[in-house]
Amino acid sequence: MANLEDVPTTDLFSEVLRRMKCATKPDKRLILVGPPGSGKGTQSPIIKDEYCLCHLATGDMLRAAVAAKTPLGIKAKEAMEKGELVSDDLVVGIIDDALKKPSCQKGFILDGFPRTVVQAQKLDEMLKNRGVKVDKVLNFAVDDRILEERITGRWIHPSSGRSYHTKFAPPKVPGVDDATGEPLIQRKDDTAEVLKSRLEAFHKQTEPVIDYYTKKGVVANLPAEKSPKEVTVEVQKVLSS
Ligand code: AP5
Repeated sequence: MANLEDVPTTDLFSEVLRRMKCATKPDKRLILVGPPGSGKGTQSPIIKDEYCLCHLATGDMLRAAVAAKTPLGIKAKEAMEKGELVSDDLVVGIIDDALKKPSCQKGFILDGFPRTVVQAQKLDEMLKNRGVKVDKVLNFAVDDRILEERITGRWIHPSSGRSYHTKFAPPKVPGVDDATGEPLIQRKDDTAEVLKSRLEAFHKQTEPVIDYYTKKGVVANLPAEKSPKEVTVEVQKVLSS
């Protein structure tokens, strides 16, 4: 742990203020589900800040493991590059570990997990052991036809995960992160070709997850074709009801 004496007073003060604000917020356990490019990663940081939740994105975690060439990353790389899902056991393991983090104490946003019914059942078991359950599943509903433009125009700042779009959310300077000035990159799987496999995996393996949670009465459908700001308003309506 960092020595608190070395932390600048302004940082300490803003962390105290953040924790005071968080203490007034209700706990929430959320799942974001939707096809590639539906806006899950765009809305997650906004929900995270509003409700003081941890944001667990299995895609980001797996990409970090691939970049670091860990045993997990080596196993996941091939499936990810082809737009296929990695095995249930690998992702269930990383979520089980991540949920133990202190930042998940007030709840979580699961972004990209569960993606199969088996993963949903395993998550139920994990949560049951912790005496909690999923509050809401936000279903980012959007027509496949608009996703290619969103996916092929996306640019990422790898170290922060900040995401831009050449048309819908352009950086101030093309190709450069607004906050750090570092270069942006495109994901290897963000091509029209790989998108086809990702969409196929979504329809075959992930849509049944929406049915699974519909039966439990926790699904809220969001019109994800709207602009990012309009989607944020819809998310806020669902989460405050
Ligand atoms: P993952 O990283 O989870 O990718 P994904 O689900 O395909 O989702 P994306 O990150 O592409 O889309 P998003 O909905 O977050 O869109 P965003 O907000 O960025 O998974 C990658 C791979 O990892 C998988 O293929 C699989 O191999 C593996 N994997 C991950 N989890 C797994 C699991 N549980 N089990 C097995 N394998 C797993 O938006 C996209 C773009 O559109 C951005 O540029 C944004 O600026 C723009 N945009 C966003 N909202 C709007 C809007 N409303 N209007 C206009 N533009 C918008």
